[in-house]
Amino acid sequence: MRRFLIAGNWKMNCGPKDTSTLLQGIGNKMETMPEDVDGLVCPPTISLTTASVELQDIEGIALGAQNVHYEDNGSYTGEVSTQMLNEVNCEYVIVGHSERRQYFGETDKTVEAKVNKALQDDLKPVVCVGESLEQRKDNEHMLRVRKQVEAALVSVDKDQAEDVVIAYEPIWAIGTGESATPDQAQEMHKMIRDVLSDLFSEDKADEMRILYGGSMKPHNAEELLAQPDVDGGLIGGASLKADSFTEIIEIADELS
Ligand code: PGA
Repeated sequence: MRRFLIAGNWKMNCGPKDTSTLLQGIGNKMETMPEDVDGLVCPPTISLTTASVELQDIEGIALGAQNVHYEDNGSYTGEVSTQMLNEVNCEYVIVGHSERRQYFGETDKTVEAKVNKALQDDLKPVVCVGESLEQRKDNEHMLRVRKQVEAALVSVDKDQAEDVVIAYEPIWAIGTGESATPDQAQEMHKMIRDVLSDLFSEDKADEMRILYGGSMKPHNAEELLAQPDVDGGLIGGASLKADSFTEIIEIADELS
């Protein structure tokens, strides 16, 4: 059975000090994590060490990074490697977020390379896919997302498929306050699961988690998470407040 994964993508928010404050706030709200929900926070790189220390006191919340390079080391100014993330106890890494695709030249090719590198070095990639508003208006959204999923996972070994998490994030819903409707999310998630089934197998696809991201908040989390193919959330804005993040975790627990 798939467990809900409630993931916070902090983006470029929270240096080490604010990271301590936020995680202590989350810890206070949640003495122990609900048994059937996995939590995850993805602070900026500079705060990962602090977060790793704080998370020792919070059961059930894993640590993830927001980006990683696909080479082991070398002359890549500003980048971090999988080994560095392993060293600070990261379990997950976000790959191919639309903001990285839009502002930092991430392509389907680099996403594929990063997914493979992450899996090779024991990091679970959270692979982000999603269409623009224009693509949805032109009715190209299903095809666009299908292609992104296929390109990211084309060289993933079937044995490692269950370590991959997909996050469907329609670009028009990110940070806008306008989330996809539950039906729009379910339609896309079902299509993604069918693609995963074609790439790996039906059994593997059944084990893989597909998160929804894009203005998920406490007020709309229940209807989104209640969809059969929505296995959690990748949450930006609402993950920066201990109250709203833990509220979404509790909603997921109630639905488990
Ligand atoms: P949002 O961000 O929840 O603020 O819309 C989600 C994301 O970009 O991961």
